[in-house]
Amino acid sequence: MIVTVTSHKGGVGKTVTAVHLAAYFTERFGEGSTVLIDTDPNASAIEWSERGRLPFQVVEPSAEPGGEEHVILDSQGRLGGEDLEAAVDDSDLLVIPTSPEALSLNALMLLVDDLKALGGRAEYRVLLTMVPWWNRSGTGARKALEAEGIPLLDGEIRRREAFQTAALQGVPVYDVNDRRAKQGWEDYKKIGRQVIKLR
Ligand SMILES: Nc1ncnc2c1ncn2[C@@H]1O[C@H](COP(=O)(O)OP(=O)(O)OP(=O)(O)O)[C@@H](O)[C@H]1O
Ligand SMILES: [Mg+2]
Repeated sequence: MIVTVTSHKGGVGKTVTAVHLAAYFTERFGEGSTVLIDTDPNASAIEWSERGRLPFQVVEPSAEPGGEEHVILDSQGRLGGEDLEAAVDDSDLLVIPTSPEALSLNALMLLVDDLKALGGRAEYRVLLTMVPWWNRSGTGARKALEAEGIPLLDGEIRRREAFQTAALQGVPVYDVNDRRAKQGWEDYKKIGRQVIKLR
């Protein structure tokens, strides 16, 4: 399966999502089954893997294909024109993270418009990320997006410091020594299960 994680807005959890989808695929399909291609010039996913240890390879787009069955692509913000079209045509699914804030939701609507302009061939799902646990902004955002007919993954990734610790330590969140880190992994497992079913 080829999954591209993309969004028009920066800092909405693309890299965190790509890393944890790749971790989930690796858990399900075994070591060597999955590769994460870091197409962002900032190389955040590559740096993540270099700071510590991830259970899958993270490579640059120019790397020789390693024959992995599953490919997760972490994209830079704001793919447009031919780049967006190529991502749509080369992927089985686009996962589009958005936080529940107005600016992220606005950027999301612009991306949805760009996808619609490709004539309905884009297979995509929106993922609510960085959702605060102390208010109901996540529920509000879900309702607003559902009212617009936007396809959402069921469940959300809650805001947890453990994700930042994971990035710093160069590991998946399940390797962070903190009780809440396990809940962060549960959030992504629920998403990973749905993504696999969409194959
Ligand atoms: N669920 C979460 N809870 C708390 N912090 C998070 C969560 N998801 C992401 N973050 C943090 O938010 C910041 C942005 O996340 P990330 O780098 O994944 O976003 P991005 O969309 O890839 O950004 P960019 O557009 O710069 O590539 C990072 O510091 C990351 O650790
Ligand atoms: Mg990123």
